[in-house]
Amino acid sequence: MPSRDKTPQRPATTSANAHAPTLAPGSYPAIRMRRNRNAPWARKLVAETLLSPSDLVWPMFVMEGVAKREPVASMPGVERLSVDLIVEAARLAVSLGIPAIALFPYTDLKLRTDDAQEAFNPDNLVCRATRAIKAAKLDVGVILDVALDPYTSHGHDGLLIGDEIANDATIAALVRQALVQAEAGTDILAPSDMMDGRIGAIRSALEAGGYHNTQIMSYAAKYASAFYGPFRDAVGSGGLLKGDKRTYQMDPANSDEALREVALDIAEGADMVMVKPGMPYLDIVRRVSETFKVPTLAYQVSGEYAMIVAAAEKGVLDLDKCVLESLLAFKRAGASAVLTYFAPHAAKLLRKT
Ligand code: PBG
Repeated sequence: MPSRDKTPQRPATTSANAHAPTLAPGSYPAIRMRRNRNAPWARKLVAETLLSPSDLVWPMFVMEGVAKREPVASMPGVERLSVDLIVEAARLAVSLGIPAIALFPYTDLKLRTDDAQEAFNPDNLVCRATRAIKAAKLDVGVILDVALDPYTSHGHDGLLIGDEIANDATIAALVRQALVQAEAGTDILAPSDMMDGRIGAIRSALEAGGYHNTQIMSYAAKYASAFYGPFRDAVGSGGLLKGDKRTYQMDPANSDEALREVALDIAEGADMVMVKPGMPYLDIVRRVSETFKVPTLAYQVSGEYAMIVAAAEKGVLDLDKCVLESLLAFKRAGASAVLTYFAPHAAKLLRKT
């Protein structure tokens, strides 16, 4: 006979509490916010935001050679990979449900010049890697940065004429770079240079060249940030950089200006926009996604990655929990997807939960 012992105890109904006075509306204890948090199933039921591997973009660093991997000192756990291993990483992305990867080159120092010639070489590292991924017929989007910094001897994203990053001359160079990358089979071009007018120029060139379906994800609101330090180490441009990027990247003090930048890039033909860095700029993610209702990505940049990893290595933060919480925060702020070096790690964690 089933025991009734486990039945929750309820106070016996008495005539007194059957006619309990109506609780004051809109306040405790009629409202107890904790009711919806009590059980794991209840928390799942009312969750407003969901993080899944399909929200992630995995940025990778490409290097010369075959079967070569090399750790990035400033980003523990991140490696530069030769083209053959990049294809394997792309395969892993597919198996983890990560829809897109972003490739950045570690260009040989000898190939870096004032005029960034290697950016226009159809056989440069990122073009070869893109072709190899496409040849493997992997169902993964390939994103390439359009910017000159991995190819310039001075580490700037644009052409340095005198002591100025020359906007219009740089645009012409970016258009050449974009066409070479589109020809290699890149799905998404991601101009990260912050020159004025480059999205329109690249879009026109793509249309004229027959690349109607090549998408543009503009780094629309990209700030002059100290959080890019480890990335510059990864692509080898940090030691070369003369001065800073404040004449073209945005002032961290500004927010309305980000909306103007985004509006321009959308008008010029961007399919998606990006906010960068990520976590210190969630207010910008929120404003952009709410204002424009276009796919808005956020980049959890190298310095954010390095901070979380360093704190976990010191034993002061729980890595897995902080990774998932930080990525969920991007989604909550309105991001459609997040570029993150944690992508494969997070995707594996998400498959377990
Ligand atoms: C270069 C570029 C940068 C990043 C992406 N593309 C660095 C910079 O602007 O100096 C930063 C990525 C990161 O820090 O993870 N145009």
